[in-house]
Amino acid sequence: MSKTLLVVSGGIEAVPGILKAKEMGLHVVVSDYNPEAPGFRYADDRIIASTYDVQETVAAAEKYHKNIRPLDGVICVASDVPLTVASVAEKLGLPGLSIETAKLAGDKLAMKDQLVREGIPVPWYKPVMSIQELDKVCRVKGFPLIIKPVDSRGARGVLLLDRDIDLQWAFNTAQQNSPTARVMAEEFISGPQISTEAVMVNGIGYNLGFSDRNYEYLERFRPHIIENGGTQPSILSESMQKDIADLAIKAGKALGVVNGIVKGDMVYGPDGPMVIEIATRLSGGYFSTDQIPLHTGVDMLKAAIKLALGEGIKPQELEKKGNRAVAIRYLFPAPGRVVSISGLETARKQEGIVRAEIVVKIGDIITTPCNSNDTAGYVIAVADRHEDAVSRCVKAVNSINVETEKLV
Ligand SMILES: Nc1ncnc2c1ncn2[C@@H]1O[C@H](COP(=O)(O)OP(=O)(O)OP(=O)(O)O)[C@@H](O)[C@H]1O
Ligand SMILES: [Mg+2]
Repeated sequence: MSKTLLVVSGGIEAVPGILKAKEMGLHVVVSDYNPEAPGFRYADDRIIASTYDVQETVAAAEKYHKNIRPLDGVICVASDVPLTVASVAEKLGLPGLSIETAKLAGDKLAMKDQLVREGIPVPWYKPVMSIQELDKVCRVKGFPLIIKPVDSRGARGVLLLDRDIDLQWAFNTAQQNSPTARVMAEEFISGPQISTEAVMVNGIGYNLGFSDRNYEYLERFRPHIIENGGTQPSILSESMQKDIADLAIKAGKALGVVNGIVKGDMVYGPDGPMVIEIATRLSGGYFSTDQIPLHTGVDMLKAAIKLALGEGIKPQELEKKGNRAVAIRYLFPAPGRVVSISGLETARKQEGIVRAEIVVKIGDIITTPCNSNDTAGYVIAVADRHEDAVSRCVKAVNSINVETEKLV
C-alpha cells in the first residue's frame, strides 16, 4: 500500500504540494474548512476541518487514521499552520516538529525571547499593552518604529510609525489583527531585507532560497509594509549571503527545528544580519513551490514531503543545480472598482515569463493594500541575469492593465 500524507489546507497555493505528493505516488488526504477548496480537486480523500482549528483538525485526522487509512505524515504547504500540523503529528505519532517549536513559531514575542536566549541578534522589541505604553516607547526610542500583532501573518497590522502617525489608530489596527489582542513594538532596522528558506536534515541546514525582497513601495503604502516581490540571485556579496543564511539556520535550530523547513525573514542592518522572523514551514508567495525550484533546480517540495514522512534525504538531493535568475512582482492597480482587465495573454507570451495571474475580476473593489494578500495578481520571470529577470517581470506587469474607476 502506498504511503498516506495529510496536507493541511487545500488553498490554491497548496495545489503544487498536493500534486507533488501525488507525483511521488502517495495517497493524499487534504483538509480544509472550505468544501470548494481548490486542493480538494486533486486529493484522494478530503477532510472538512478548519486549518486554524487545531482540535477540529486533530480529531478529524485521528478519525481518518483509525477508521479509513493510517496516515504516515502530515504537512502544510504555503499555509501558516505549524501548530495544527505539529498537533496532528504528536497525536498520531508521526514525524514532525514538537508542539513547543510550533508554538514558538506562532508567537513573535515568545520566538524573539527564545532567539535572544540563544544569542541570535533580533531588533529591539517590547510588548505594548496599551496606547500609553506605546506612547512611552515612542518617546524613549524615537521614530521610526514598527508595531505589529504578536500572532498574525501576512504583514496584517504591521505598521511603520513615524512622527505623524495617529498612535491610537496604529495601536488599534495592530491589536485588531491579533487573535489574542497582543501588540509589540520593534526598532525599525533599515537595510536590505531578504527571504531565506532552508531544509534542515538531522540538524544540518541546507539553504536553498535567498531572495532580495523588493520594498520599492515602502513610501507609497506607508504605514503598511507591502512587499513588491523579490529577486534571486541576491545582489549582496557572497559573504553577506553566507552570514544571513547561516544566521537563519542557527535561529531555526534555536527554535528546535531538527528535521523540517526554516524560512527566514532577515534584514542586514548597520550591525550585521538580524532575524525579523522565522517560520518553520514551507513559504507561500510561490517561493517554495516555484521561485526556489526555478532558481536552484532543487525539488524543495519533494524534500519537505520526505521529511514529513520521516524519510531520509541525501545531501546530493539538496545541492543547487543551477543559478537561474528569478523575479516575482505583484500588481497594485489604483484603488476603485475594476472596470476592465486586459493584457494577461500578451504578458504570458513575453520572453522569460513563467507565470502570470490576475486574482481579481471585473466589479471587484480594489482598496489600498494593507497586507501581503492585497495584490491583484503577480508575474514570475526568469533570465540568465538578475537585472534581466527584473526587467522582464516589470515589462510583463506593465503589459497587464487592471483598470479601475474611483468610488464616489
Ligand atoms: N523590526 C523590523 N525592521 C524592519 N522591517 C521590519 C521589522 N519588522 C517587520 N518588518 C517588515 O515587515 C514585514 C512583515 O513583518 P512580520 O514578518 O513581523 O509580519 P508577518 O505578519 O509575519 O508577515 P509575513 O507573514 O509576511 O512574514 C517583514 O517581513 C519586514 O519586511
Ligand atoms: Mg513574517
